[in-house]
Amino acid sequence: METRVVPFTDESIAEAAELILAGEPVAIATETVYGLAADATNAQAVARIYETKGRPSFNPLIVHVPDLDAAQRIGAFDEAALELARQHWPGPLTLVVGACEGSGIASIVTAGLPTIGIRVPAHPAMQALLHAVGRPLAAPSANASGSVSPTRAEHVLKSLGGRIPLVIDAGATQRGIESTIVAATGGALRLLRLGPIEVDAERSAPGSIEAPGQLAIHYAPSKPVRLNVRQAETGEYLIGFADVDGDASLSRSGDLVEAAARLFDLLHEADASPSSRIAVAPVPDEGLGEAINDRLRRAAADRH
Ligand code: TXA
Ligand code: MG
Repeated sequence: METRVVPFTDESIAEAAELILAGEPVAIATETVYGLAADATNAQAVARIYETKGRPSFNPLIVHVPDLDAAQRIGAFDEAALELARQHWPGPLTLVVGACEGSGIASIVTAGLPTIGIRVPAHPAMQALLHAVGRPLAAPSANASGSVSPTRAEHVLKSLGGRIPLVIDAGATQRGIESTIVAATGGALRLLRLGPIEVDAERSAPGSIEAPGQLAIHYAPSKPVRLNVRQAETGEYLIGFADVDGDASLSRSGDLVEAAARLFDLLHEADASPSSRIAVAPVPDEGLGEAINDRLRRAAADRH
């Protein structure tokens, strides 16, 4: 695929919006780093972000919205979260809050978690794209897995050239580092990632708090999970793939993008089913399959 780098104009934003609504990820400047944006309500489009970056694991992604009103349609803000939002938005601050049910955000965006990371970016290019698309955008940094975050369009081209259709070039980003991340859940503020904005909050690494009711970075089903299963045992809910049929299938055609897009929905479905245990068919360990298997191994290992 040819990757075109085009300057930020009304026309390039309209083109980017069209691509995004067709399920393609597009790279675009924000005030922190260039992001690889996809429609957060389209699970397959978000799965393509992972495919494009070659990321071997799923992390919850930050959802970008144009303003606080839009943020409150997808997340539950308590007083402390509202205060931070009013103080720093639009700007390089991400707030992790409770996710609203029925908001239409795909489960792969939050990696199955009941919380959601939301940011209202200040950059006019990203703002214009959000308005043109009219949907929340999931956007990690626009670089291949393992390389540094891009602060110029040419960094994006070097890292993802040939793998995405379009880069919206708005010059060097002002901040140059990713947004500060603060979790505002359960009545307390916790600093999850240092960034351009200083916030007075207790500092904790993501994933360090796994107690019930607190912040977990990985979703894990409450039931035992058995992997590489071709034939379910009694009492097992089998999540199939390709030629392995089950109670449900990640992808009957063996398509890894579809499988990634359905993974967290099916884990939740299996967890909510009357079966007492979960079994999952083998998934090839190539391309997106690597990220799927990483997540399945965690689901099988970290029960809490
Ligand atoms: O500046 C930025 O934030 C850039 C630009 C493009 O906006 N984006 C960015 O996204 O840095 P990314 O995918 O590299 O960072 C996502 C991180 C996750 O690794 C995780 O640490 C945190 O955000 N995060 C997102 N949702 C979360 C959640 N529900 N719970 C805990 N952490 C979350
Ligand atoms: Mg990153």
